[in-house]
Amino acid sequence: MSFSHAEPTLQPKLIYIQTFGCQMNEYDSARVERLLAPDGYLLTSEVERADVIFINTCAVREKAEQKVCSYLGRLRRLKTRNPRLKIVIGGCMAQQLGKTLLERFAHLDLVLGTQSLPALPGLLREIQQKHHRIVHLSSELDTYDLNGSTSRTTIRGVSAAVTIMQGCDNYCSYCIVPYVRGPEKSRPSGEILHEIGLHVEAGAREIVLLGQNVNSYGKKSGTEISFSDLLHNIQTVISPERLRFTTSHPKDLTQDVMSCYADLDCLCKHLHLPLQSGSDRILALMNRGYTAAQYRSKIDQLRGICPDIGLSADVMVGFPGETESDFQDTLYLLQQVQFDALFSFRYSDRPYAKAAQFPGKVTEADKARRLLELQALQAEITLRKNRAEVGKVRQILVEGPSKAGETQYMGRTQQNRIVNFHSSVDLTGRLISVRIQAAYSHSLRGEWIDSGY
Ligand code: SAH
Ligand code: SF4
Ligand code: F3S
Repeated sequence: MSFSHAEPTLQPKLIYIQTFGCQMNEYDSARVERLLAPDGYLLTSEVERADVIFINTCAVREKAEQKVCSYLGRLRRLKTRNPRLKIVIGGCMAQQLGKTLLERFAHLDLVLGTQSLPALPGLLREIQQKHHRIVHLSSELDTYDLNGSTSRTTIRGVSAAVTIMQGCDNYCSYCIVPYVRGPEKSRPSGEILHEIGLHVEAGAREIVLLGQNVNSYGKKSGTEISFSDLLHNIQTVISPERLRFTTSHPKDLTQDVMSCYADLDCLCKHLHLPLQSGSDRILALMNRGYTAAQYRSKIDQLRGICPDIGLSADVMVGFPGETESDFQDTLYLLQQVQFDALFSFRYSDRPYAKAAQFPGKVTEADKARRLLELQALQAEITLRKNRAEVGKVRQILVEGPSKAGETQYMGRTQQNRIVNFHSSVDLTGRLISVRIQAAYSHSLRGEWIDSGY
């Protein structure tokens, strides 16, 4: 046998992807990987070896932006060592800051807008061949298309995210998202079902539907089905083992969607329902479209339909004009509702967002104090609720090995609690029953009590 005619092996090019921000960005990062695969790019986990670094950024809070800037600063030394390295910045901060990023960071080669991902392979070739720097923003934020964003060969994982809509029309007064992600646009339901089908075929056990405001799915187009119908169709047509969605908006959470928790076997008993504030005055200034009482009544309705539902929310402290009494209203609501988990933030001004111009700015010291107080209250509530799990038998989906060491695995209950447990066999991807033995502030410990499904 002769090897003289063997094709020369193509040296794969390596891409390193760093993702900041929300699950939308994680979804987009997976898309970057798929878009560049036909050009011979392989994903690397070692940033030093990369030919291209893609940074997917978030602009939702000032702190998110600071994190990206310090990361970008640290990459400078890699570029000095390897001048052929190309550094690309995408995501919401890229869309927001555009060419000022190139001015500020001399080692940056390409700035890519949020809806311009399909242009990435071509632009990358261009900067590699011509050695110039490019800013490519998405000026027409409503012309994007997610069609064909999944391919059979590159999807993987126990839990798979599927974007069902992009952008947002709510214009909460503190929020930058509508300005950097564009207007709300729902994907055709047929396309969503197709993509979910591919994930399930490839082994995904859990599907997470993504959107800034999934409850308003289909409302705008006039031709699409409603969100609750979409959930029903997913169960009927595909029946994934588990289904989740995020994020919901309280003003659009309908009785139909709430009933899905009783009607659909695959829907996990968990809802993330951002609250933001417990003060009606602040909620109105935020343009949220509901009062504290309306929020509580939705929670009561939900618990009536599904008593075992796990609830989480986002809240912020220090919105412009927030008084001590407004803040007390938020604490009171947390006590009333008893969330299972809470994500809490200090308000920060964002460019374009109306609240940046609002009077009555709260000092950083007051914001810090309020945040600590709020987090201390929630820590007590979370721990108490976690302790109430001890002794119960819960179904978990095993996501993989845990950081706790060999033979330690982790999974999530339907209510979204993390459970660590011991197993000498790899149960990744299995739905198993565990008995909860111990409770901590952020997780539970359990014992595997069945041989799985
Ligand atoms: N679309 C989702 C998530 C938006 S961003 C929703 O409607 O809830 C995630 C969270 O970041 C928000 O829920 C809010 O609590 C927080 N957030 C957004 N803008 C902020 C700002 N300017 N300052 C502080 N927190 C902010
Ligand atoms: Fe931002 Fe409000 Fe839209 Fe959520 S619903 S993305 S907080 S504007
Ligand atoms: Fe951040 Fe953009 Fe998501 S601002 S939260 S990455 S939509």
